[in-house]
Amino acid sequence: MSLVAHSLDVIRRYQSSSGAYPASPSFSAYQGFSWLRDGAFIAEGVSRHGDADGAAAFHRWSAGVIADRAGQVESLVSREGPIPPGDMLPTRFTLDGLNGDDGWWDFQLDGYGTWLWALAEHTRRHGAVPETEKGVRTAARYLSAFWALPCYDWWEEHVEQRHVATLGSIHAGLRAARALGVLSPAEGTAAAEAVAGIEALVSAEGVVDGRLRKWLGSDAVDGSLLACVEPFGLYPADHPVGAATVAEVERQLARDGGVYRYLKDTFYGGGRWVLLAGFLGWNHARAGRPEEARRYLDWMAAQATPSGDLPEQVSDLPLAPEYEQEWLDRWGTVATPLLWSHGMYLILADELGVSA
Ligand code: BGC
Repeated sequence: MSLVAHSLDVIRRYQSSSGAYPASPSFSAYQGFSWLRDGAFIAEGVSRHGDADGAAAFHRWSAGVIADRAGQVESLVSREGPIPPGDMLPTRFTLDGLNGDDGWWDFQLDGYGTWLWALAEHTRRHGAVPETEKGVRTAARYLSAFWALPCYDWWEEHVEQRHVATLGSIHAGLRAARALGVLSPAEGTAAAEAVAGIEALVSAEGVVDGRLRKWLGSDAVDGSLLACVEPFGLYPADHPVGAATVAEVERQLARDGGVYRYLKDTFYGGGRWVLLAGFLGWNHARAGRPEEARRYLDWMAAQATPSGDLPEQVSDLPLAPEYEQEWLDRWGTVATPLLWSHGMYLILADELGVSA
């Protein structure tokens, strides 16, 4: 079976009857939970390869869990004074759409933006997904109100910072919400103001040495910044800042086809992430460099287990090997299969015309 076919199969096999995609079916710390960030890219992968029903089921489920929290969003918006991060909407949900009762690094805004972006992509490709309107409006209201707050990043770290990749995800999500055409005039105006605010903030404080920075004030790069170029287009590939960001992420973080999250990463010893090779390949493909893109696709495929499953990261060239054992003791072996890795493989394969 090709890795495209296996990826579609793994994602379908583990999709819950609720529509939720579990991040990883068997990994101790993720089991039983679905993240909007992971799910949005997984849905984008299967939506591109003809599983319109599976993607739509995920989008309906996401819209439902967000709409269920419309009251919470209203009360957050009308609250005065600083709000503790733990009071904001959750980062991950049980497969039945509940909050879950074991503490997590809650308050991450990017997933809500990425979900809106993925829903709009799917809608453009396959038509509107019924029963998503209230979820779209709730997510847009939430992001328009809170986009400027610091929160945890894609890697669920540094809640005290404003992360440029998070801002890029929100920027794409709010533009998508407007394009979906379901916002009220007031919601549309608030979303447009937030989009303009993000652009102004990132151009004033999010760029260093002509490329994007990990968080406002940091000089580091981060693999998640790739998404600010392709697919989110905060700075497109033909803008000098977009081109310089991809080039600098590749220079600092790519090694032999794999991509590190950031140089100080210690999670499982800081290995190379399969899904980030997908983002870098995607950027090369869109910038008209298919051979470079193909190198990343091939590296991703080479990380599959004998049964074809893709892990979250590979530990053969770790940045901080002394930290690996600690994570093995805590959570067991690296999450495999990680459905987001398979989703990214599907996206990059589609960019390169590789089908099942
Ligand atoms: C990663 C997140 C991801 C989550 C579920 C975490 O370890 O840092 O980016 O969303 O796992 O896959």
